[in-house]
Amino acid sequence: MTINEYNFAGKKAIVRVDFNVPLNENGEITDDTRIRGALPTLKKILADGGAVIIMSHMGKPKGKVNPKLSLGQIKDAVSAALGVPVAFAPDCAKAQDAAKALKMGEALLLENLRYYPEEEGKPVGIDKEDPAYEEAKKSMKQSQKEFAKTLASYADCYVMDAFGTAHRKHASTAVIADYFDADNKMLGLLMEKEVQAVDNVLSNIKRPFVAIMGGSKVSSKIGIIENLLGKVDKLILCGGMTYTFAKAHGGEIGDSIVELDKLDVALGVEEMAKKNGVELVLGCDSVCCTGYDFSTFSVKPGAQIKVFPSNAIEAGWEGLDVGPVSREKFAKAIEGAKTILWNGPAGCFECDDFTAGSRAVGEAVAKATAEGAFSLIGGGDSVACVNKFGLADKVSYISTGGGALLEAIEGKVLPGVAAIKG
Ligand code: 3PG
Repeated sequence: MTINEYNFAGKKAIVRVDFNVPLNENGEITDDTRIRGALPTLKKILADGGAVIIMSHMGKPKGKVNPKLSLGQIKDAVSAALGVPVAFAPDCAKAQDAAKALKMGEALLLENLRYYPEEEGKPVGIDKEDPAYEEAKKSMKQSQKEFAKTLASYADCYVMDAFGTAHRKHASTAVIADYFDADNKMLGLLMEKEVQAVDNVLSNIKRPFVAIMGGSKVSSKIGIIENLLGKVDKLILCGGMTYTFAKAHGGEIGDSIVELDKLDVALGVEEMAKKNGVELVLGCDSVCCTGYDFSTFSVKPGAQIKVFPSNAIEAGWEGLDVGPVSREKFAKAIEGAKTILWNGPAGCFECDDFTAGSRAVGEAVAKATAEGAFSLIGGGDSVACVNKFGLADKVSYISTGGGALLEAIEGKVLPGVAAIKG
């Protein structure tokens, strides 16, 4: 069943969206890409004459109520985007009455699913080494089914439209599908678009294929990096992982972020790139600072900023962005690309002193796109970058997925897709 074939008139649809949007300290949304992404599906249901029950997680509350991660904070924004009032159910597992009261044409937003450990289905408060862990896991899996069944009981049909969370086998992204027959469960319009965009990159790759991967840790990206080394012509690695590579070659990296236990991994990546004939492009100079506050994204009063070679950073200085030579090097590597994947910014782009690297990458991607490349941007921070730099309409596709996009690019079957398509 596809959503376009389905007539929602007179039906209540429960829709899993990914409204895990970034909020500032006042609880205001700083990037609404994910809300805008879900609108076509939600609007189609309402336009058909159906009612919609919207469910999502926000952040990682780890099975506990955390008001800072309440979806109540975004209810008004969802309502404004959707153009109808949105009711709010403050307990997602006790929303039977609210769901029952919902009339056709109306919308209901459920509170954060992850306030319940059943959503993720992992036992809480028990160590994996504990002999009782396996039993706790079994019992949690049973509770997860019951939780999913409760959510399913609110509606006549289920739509999975949370691409950003489709790589998780959670109650609301996968298990719930077991409680609907094949004719009453489907992928939403966003999911279809995202899956298509991944397909555009993977099948029929137009070369040169250039991937740009940012991020602070090699360890969290190693799976996708190794995978990409089998697909791309050039791989630009930027962000904090630069310093693990610099250190692996004996460089001085001052106070920059580093994974000292991953130096061999970095060398292994270089080796693999060489073997596969992939041009590995790393930053060679860095914009460094003597005092950066990561909680407020600002330079501390009195702190200094200076450019160093990335392998000769003095003690007391921390690399926070790529320098001018690297920016040029990256732009040159992107020039002429026909397929581009960008995940992860080049520096701490949230602070104006360290945006230049990410801006240079974004502008080079936009230029290559104008010259015919297909460019796919994914991951909250890179998406925030293209939005911040006004480049959103100059790239081919902005994905709402971070981890999900990378797993899809790796060729993994996403549980959220498998739950519907089998
Ligand atoms: C994301 O932001 O990548 C998605 O919302 C998934 O979140 P998670 O990594 O906490 O599952």
